Formats: sequence, C-alpha cells, structure tokens
Amino acid sequence: METRSQWGTRAGFILAAVGSAVGLGNIWRFPAVAYDNGGGAFLIPYLFALLTAGIPILILEFTMGHKYRGSAPLTYRRMNKKTEFIGWWAVLVAFVISTYYSVIIAWAMSYSVFSFNLNWGSDTGAFLMGDYLKRTVAPGELGSLVPGVLIPLILVWVITLGILFKGVKKGIEIANRIFIPALVIVFLIIVIRAITLPGALDGLEAFFTPDFSRILDPEVWVAAYGQIFFSLSIAFAIMITYSSYLPKKSDLTNNAFITGFGNSSFEILAGIGVFAILGFMAGQVGVPVDEVVSAGVGLAFVVFPEIINQFPGLNALFGFLFFASLVLAGLTSLMSISETYISGLMDKFKISRGKAVAFGGGTAALISLLFATQGGLYLLDAADYFINQFGVALLGLIEVVLIAWVLREIKNLKEHANEISDIKLGSWWTVSLSFITPIVLGYMMYGLFKLNLLKQFTGEENTTGNYEGYSDAFILWGGWAVAAGALIVGIIMAITKWKK
Ligand code: PHE
Ligand code: NA
Repeated sequence: METRSQWGTRAGFILAAVGSAVGLGNIWRFPAVAYDNGGGAFLIPYLFALLTAGIPILILEFTMGHKYRGSAPLTYRRMNKKTEFIGWWAVLVAFVISTYYSVIIAWAMSYSVFSFNLNWGSDTGAFLMGDYLKRTVAPGELGSLVPGVLIPLILVWVITLGILFKGVKKGIEIANRIFIPALVIVFLIIVIRAITLPGALDGLEAFFTPDFSRILDPEVWVAAYGQIFFSLSIAFAIMITYSSYLPKKSDLTNNAFITGFGNSSFEILAGIGVFAILGFMAGQVGVPVDEVVSAGVGLAFVVFPEIINQFPGLNALFGFLFFASLVLAGLTSLMSISETYISGLMDKFKISRGKAVAFGGGTAALISLLFATQGGLYLLDAADYFINQFGVALLGLIEVVLIAWVLREIKNLKEHANEISDIKLGSWWTVSLSFITPIVLGYMMYGLFKLNLLKQFTGEENTTGNYEGYSDAFILWGGWAVAAGALIVGIIMAITKWKK
C-alpha cells in the first residue's frame, strides 16, 4: 500500500522548493560573487549556467523523485541497487550542512534582537568575535559552549524539528506558505528603503556596470556554475526528497522553471538591496564602494551592523527586518536540508516520522553544539568550504555522469517528465546534462583538486597556500575528514540491511 506523504497543493510544493532554494546564499553570497566576476557582465555566464545546469538538474531531480517516489537513497536504489550509496552520500552532505547552517540562523536570531539597542557598538568586528562569539581560542580548539549562541540555537532546532515532526503537508507546506510570503514582504521593504538612501545609486552603478573584459575568463564561468549549484540546492538530495512527495499527476518541468527563476529573481533583488546599502555606507565613510564589498559572515554580522549604526532613523526596525529576513530564508532552507535524512531514515528503517525526527534531527542538533563553542567559527568555516566545494561539484558531477552515461536513464526520465508536464523536454535538456554540465563540472573539480592538493601530492607550494591559511592538520581534520566522512558513512548506510 502507498502510504507516502504528499503535498496538499501545487503551490505548496513550489513554495517549499523555492523556500529551500532561497537561503543565506541569495542574500550574502550572490551579490559579492556577481560583483567580483564582472558585475553586470556576470549575468551572461550566470544565465547560461542557470539554463544549462541549474534548471536541467532541477528537472532531473524532480523527475527522479517523482518517478521513483523515494528519499534520495531509495530513489538511487530503485534506479540501480549499486548506486544507493550516492543517495546516502548526498544525504550526509546535507546532514553536515544542517549542523552549521542552523548555527548561522541562531546568530541571525541574536542579531535581530541586538538591533533594538544596537548592542554591537561601534566596533562591530570586535563585538562579533569577542563579545558575542567569545573567540579567544586558536583554530582547532573548542573552548566552552557560548550561552549567547546556544539559546537561539536550541530555538532554531525546536522550530525546525517541530515543523518536520508535523509532516509534509501540515508541517513543511504550511510553514513555507507563511514564511515565504513574509520573507518577500520583509525583503521588499528593505530593498525599497535601501534604494532611497543617499549614495544608493553609486552602489547600484558599481554592481551593474559590466566588465566585459572578464567574460572569457574560465574563473568567471566556474563562479557562475558554483553559484547556481549552491543557490538552487541541487545535488544535495533535497529536491529529490521534496519531489518524492508529489502526487502522481504533477507538472515537473514547469515547476522547475518557476523554482529556478523564482530563486534567481530573489538573488537579483538581493543584489540590488545589498549594493544600494553598500553604496550608502561607502558614501558615509567617504570611500569607494569597492572598499566596503564583502560576503558571508563578514557582510551580515560585521558590515551590516555598521551600516545600521549609520542609518538615518528607524535603525532598530531596519536592523530587525534585515536579520529577520536571514532567519526566515535560513529556516526554510534548514527544513529542506534536514528532511533529507529524516526521509532517508524513515524509508530505510521503516520507522515513524516521530522517531526519525527524534533520532536524525536530535543527532544533528547535538553535533551542531560543536559550532556553538568558542572555536566554532573556525570549524564552521573549514567544514563549509570543504563540504560545499567538494560536496556540490563532485556530487553534481557524479550524478550527471551516472545518469547520462552509466545508467543511461536520460531517455526514460525524459519520457516520464514529458508525459505529465506542460513544457516538453527536447535536445536542450539531453545536451545540457550529457555534455555541457559534465564538462564544466569536470573542469571545476580539476581546478579544486589542483588548488587544494597540489602541495600534498607534488610537494610544490600552491600559490595561495592552505584555505584561509589554516594549518595542514586543521585542514585535514576540519575539512578533508568531514568531506570524506560523508562518503564513508554513506557507504556504511548503503550496505546496512533494509528493514522489511
Ligand atoms: N540554496 C540555499 C541558499 O542559497 C542554501 C542551501 C544550500 C540550502 C545547500 C540547502 C542546501 O542559501
Ligand atoms: Na539560493
């Protein structure tokens, strides 16, 4: 008997997929990546990557989940028994991401409260590292748990696991129906306020001015593909899991286009908002926009608080809305990441959702405590770099090569999608998945290995040194071991017996 949970409505599924895709990456990653890689001219490789990798892989994963109706491990197993481990590998990468992604959401929660009395003072960098994160230890040391991070972290997990416990329709779907419209409204308020600030136009000019001299640089194309992969949450088991809850009669192709373009629209909106605000900041300090551009933790938790300090009126509200948007965008992504292992555990061990949430979610929450320690940020930084670079590029490459060239499933999947979807797939899809994406990802992997392994294999110093200048031992344990651990545990899960 078919007892798999299902989405209640088509809009519910789309909102959940968009909720997964729209995350911290849209707000704090895209604007800086675009700026660093040619500004307005970046849109060309970016759109190319969206149309030859992002949307084709979204369609692929939606179709796999819908056709085989399983969590990522079960879907891979149903395609071919020997490939189950790839599903688990992807699930474990998602598991690792969930352990630190949750911590960043916790920081954003703290900062949304701090906005009310501008707790961070004038030296926002010192506040983050010292007063808030209490980072007085060296990379590799943990120190003790930081209560200011621990408390919101517990809240993040209670909310996320509470929603997942409620199930697909009553939990995930309802949460996204509330969070995503709320996020869009909050973000539109931010953007409208931002573009009316003095100096905003200088920021936008810096962002959009195309630098066409970069367009033939392979690095720029690699950056575009990397952004599209991360941003759409593809190759992480997420979209396979979500589409396994689609009813039999569902559109796949059109839903993938809506998700892909929805995510990119939010990304461009964020670029406008962030650069308008950076333009304002640059004007206040009297420096060129170039000098205030940053990304990630630095942008959100150092530069933004500074901007809020300088804000002309209602800064508490503006700060609160900004950090609230990070919390909303983050929570909907965290839900999707965590659902991959909850779904995998339910399928493999035939346990109830409640047990899977308690065991899978509980373990993730416990491990996330590592990142709530005084040395947590170093660990987060290394884990994030390795799991993303190698997780995304490598898993994406394996996925497309396996399906296009080893299992030769492209034709079957295309027929499956075409039978039920509005838009019919043609050679654009086949060519993108069989040739363009594998070639670009293969080139990306080659570059990554060269950058990070040159020294280990050839004894030759690479030009950039270790990532962030961390020690070899820290890179080995904090980075490589985590990335390899996901594969090893994945293989162990795959050879474990299925519960009848
Ligand atoms: N796609 C999300 C973003 O843009 C991040 C994410 C990555 C979500 C990996 C899930 C898995 O921020
Ligand atoms: Na995204």
